[in-house]
Amino acid sequence: MYRTTTCNSLRTEHVGQTVTLAGWVSSRRDHGGVIFIDLRDREGMTQVVFRPEEHAAVAEASHSLRSEDVITLTGRVSARLAGTENAKLATGAVEVVAEALTVLNKADVPPFPIDSDAGNEDLRLAHRYLDLRRPMMARNLKLRHRVTKTIRDFLDEEGYLEIETPILSKSTPEGARDFLVPSRLTPGSFYALPQAPQQYKQLLMVGGLEKYFQVAKCFRDEDLRADRQPEFTQIDLEASFITPEDIYALIEGLLGRVFKAAKDITIPAPFPRLTYQEAMDRFGSDKPDTRFAMELTALDDLFAQSQFKVFRGALDAGGCVKAINARQFACITTGQIEDLTQMAKNFGAKGLAFIKVENGEWKSPIVKFFTDAEKAALAERMQIQEGDLILFGADRWEVVCEVLGRIRLRVMEIQRAQLKAGHVFAEPAPAHVAAGFEEKLNFLWVVDFPLLAYSAEENKWNAVHHPFTRPLNEDLALLESGQFAKVRAQAYDIVLNGVEIGGGSIRIHEPALQSRMFDVLGVTGEQQQVMFGHILKAFSFGAPPHGGLALGLDRMVMLLCGAESIRDVIAFPKNNRGVDLMSDSPSEVDFKQLRELYIQSTAKKS
Ligand code: AMO
Ligand code: AMP
Repeated sequence: MYRTTTCNSLRTEHVGQTVTLAGWVSSRRDHGGVIFIDLRDREGMTQVVFRPEEHAAVAEASHSLRSEDVITLTGRVSARLAGTENAKLATGAVEVVAEALTVLNKADVPPFPIDSDAGNEDLRLAHRYLDLRRPMMARNLKLRHRVTKTIRDFLDEEGYLEIETPILSKSTPEGARDFLVPSRLTPGSFYALPQAPQQYKQLLMVGGLEKYFQVAKCFRDEDLRADRQPEFTQIDLEASFITPEDIYALIEGLLGRVFKAAKDITIPAPFPRLTYQEAMDRFGSDKPDTRFAMELTALDDLFAQSQFKVFRGALDAGGCVKAINARQFACITTGQIEDLTQMAKNFGAKGLAFIKVENGEWKSPIVKFFTDAEKAALAERMQIQEGDLILFGADRWEVVCEVLGRIRLRVMEIQRAQLKAGHVFAEPAPAHVAAGFEEKLNFLWVVDFPLLAYSAEENKWNAVHHPFTRPLNEDLALLESGQFAKVRAQAYDIVLNGVEIGGGSIRIHEPALQSRMFDVLGVTGEQQQVMFGHILKAFSFGAPPHGGLALGLDRMVMLLCGAESIRDVIAFPKNNRGVDLMSDSPSEVDFKQLRELYIQSTAKKS
């Protein structure tokens, strides 16, 4: 028998028992001939002591132990000497006095210390199997398992069937580039890896399955970020005869169960809802972080007659003027203002006007253009106080919202960094630097998204979600009359603390409307038949009204774990260049393999 218990189980009540443990040597300390090791397994850590005066041969053998050796040992549980307990360790009151030791496998010196979270991530990813031994990784993957299991149980109770859909499939537009797989049997043809099981789940509804879900692998060839991987997992679901209200209630119930099971947290439901318009207007984002205010405030009426050309020009051109009040940030340095201005310009602004309020004075290159009445109205509207920094945007509505939305988040990050560096904020402190901020869980639904967005680059209209999304019934006439910008979709996103953790919609189920939608998107009749003929045909055989949603499992687990990156909740992630450093993939393949697939590479070797 390798073990009788785990490395996380022994407590004072077990003193006197003889146990067998197995695991990895986490560290070894030599205290004048008495060897101590910390033994690690998936569950935790136990201190083992080798006493030469009691078990000489075993103690002698322990001298050869090195970090990451795999061992099994038997010994007696004893209380640690008073004063040597380790309150940080669950097993910290006891230790095991070794009586027998078997080395199951020796380990080479690891390329980085396992028990520290620091270090070069690329090096860790190249040896991910070692990195996974870190207690944090075991904790994250256990939590991920708990979340998936809870979701499966919950959806099963709700009557949802878990059904797998193909990985080798036909391209479905979800807004990213496809990963393609060449077909050997049909030369010159390709499968696409699914960006999501979108069409299949809709076809399951046509197939009368009514309630479907899947823990679905999705593949998107897009630029990577901390919360994006080229392959990731969705909790994908779809149901027939369902309304958005049904879906909101289902997902609120599901997330309630998940947060209870994973973190023992009760989350209040129903979640607040914001329309897309309001989310953009107030937070400058379609995934607003509502844990703190610093909201975008409209100033159009105040500056309608302004002498300040920047504001007046934007308003006269049909744009808007908005500002945010960054409380207690008048201490911003010139360098930081320049950085923020550059950031604003990167997102399309022409500048970033500001007012610093210091020693009762408004310090700003622009106040000289304001009348006393404008100043008074501004002071009241923005609730201006000593120490505030007011930042302005004047441009088209879309630009102002996006720019100030980004600046708002950046100011939050800078002020949180100040807090970590020991800066003391006066009371009342902004919410994002006040106590309790980290524990906040702000769920919300963003609803009534626009159906379509115009791309000036491509000179065409694109689907904001995907082409299967249904317009609001009351906006169908706008679609017919070509007022595309005004058509709202029956689409909804779920947002947690400023991260989009899921999204979905009610779908088009009538072939004529679906075909009309493709027309608007510039997909010709012929292309429609080639790309989507199967789904249009399926809809002609009695498709039920249906809709659904997909949750980003990795993102959700990342937030539950308090991880900074989704790589920390995925066993074998790709790095930010899309490379699996451990197996060195993607990699070149044999010329013969390519020939069988009728493929010739034109890439230059670097
Ligand atoms: P959507 O494209 O919004 O919807 O995706 C749903 C959720 O998946 C997560 N997600 C990602 N997570 C990690 N890495 C990525 N590259 C990535 N891309 C998306 C996000 C997102 O909210 N078929 C529709 C759903 C539907 O309409 O039912 C879809 O895929 O958390
Ligand atoms: P200017 O008159 O162009 O020198 O601009 C005066 C101030 O207004 C500077 O601080 C600019 O950064 C800022 N500014 C210029 N254009 C805009 C704009 N569209 N929105 C907000 N601030 C602007």
